[in-house]
Amino acid sequence: MKILAFESSCDETAVAVVEDGRKILTDQIFSQADLHAVYGGVVPEIASRCHVESISLLTERAIQAAGITRRDIDAVAVTYAPGLIGAVLVGVNFAKSAALALGVPLVPVHHIRGHIAANYLAYPELEPPFLCLAISGGNTLLIDVRGYTDMKIIGATRDDAAGECFDKTARVLGLPYPGGKPIDELSRGGDDNRYSFPIATVDGNPYDMSFSGLKTAVINLVHNAEQKGESIDRAGLAASFTKAVSDSLVPRTMRAAAELGRDAVVVAGGVAANSRIRADFQKAAEQQGVKLYIPPLRLCGDNGAMIGAQGYYEYLAGSRAGSDLNAYATMDI
Ligand code: KG4
Repeated sequence: MKILAFESSCDETAVAVVEDGRKILTDQIFSQADLHAVYGGVVPEIASRCHVESISLLTERAIQAAGITRRDIDAVAVTYAPGLIGAVLVGVNFAKSAALALGVPLVPVHHIRGHIAANYLAYPELEPPFLCLAISGGNTLLIDVRGYTDMKIIGATRDDAAGECFDKTARVLGLPYPGGKPIDELSRGGDDNRYSFPIATVDGNPYDMSFSGLKTAVINLVHNAEQKGESIDRAGLAASFTKAVSDSLVPRTMRAAAELGRDAVVVAGGVAANSRIRADFQKAAEQQGVKLYIPPLRLCGDNGAMIGAQGYYEYLAGSRAGSDLNAYATMDI
């Protein structure tokens, strides 16, 4: 079954064709990151306009690159939540028109479910149940994935997402947006014990997280140094900061896996590209005797293929949308 899939929830316009939920026939991504970099973050109006400008052409290109004709498409899948509302709306409306024009079913997909499904594309043997840590620019969630469409959030950040924390740390260091990759590069070779940063625990739920204190600590450290005319060890700061994020995520995830009796851990989302976090998970999984799945770098960030993968399982579960499908800025998984 071939699914034409759309993703437009933030600053990537992405169109893919995925076969039977596991095989990428094409994965076209147009990143707007350069357009937003000058503002230091995503400007929602610019994102929406850019999606409108690129989605038709990207769709034509995807169908051509997949080596199929429009008649070969069996269903259309689209991210309908969560995300920047104007941006999500562009994908939803385009997908509705495509499904109507092609006479095929329309399948709505939750963006974070898509990030999880990126792992199905990379690992043919992976099947639920497993425990998933989803770490992206807007979300940080611990999810018990009981089935392909049966998931329960067991922990979440109470404030900032891990990715947001990377982006703000990069900004205060004068690094470009999005800041995760530049921080990752800067931290290599840096002393991760150079600065001491807080690792928050949250009363009431050991699986909940908090990153706003860490973000504030980094900002204060840099501003204080600037005011005193002191120089900062930038590589040491990036490494110490990344260690603090990793120490907040990795032990908590492994503990949750042990307590829920899950023998597989899946990491998903843009921050899963971080080299330190990947290495720490690798070590922890080996120690605990748990199977670890992290997508290859190209599938960590937003892409259309992950929506096609999850769309397949949503389709099998009977999920269908009509032309009244709406976009939502927030939605439980
Ligand atoms: O999943 P994603 O592409 O978009 C959302 O759905 O939010 O995640 C984007 C986030 C950004 O905050 C970006 O800075 C972060 O992923 N990111 C990284 C790395 N690469 C991207 N964070 C840490 N280390 C990286 N190597």
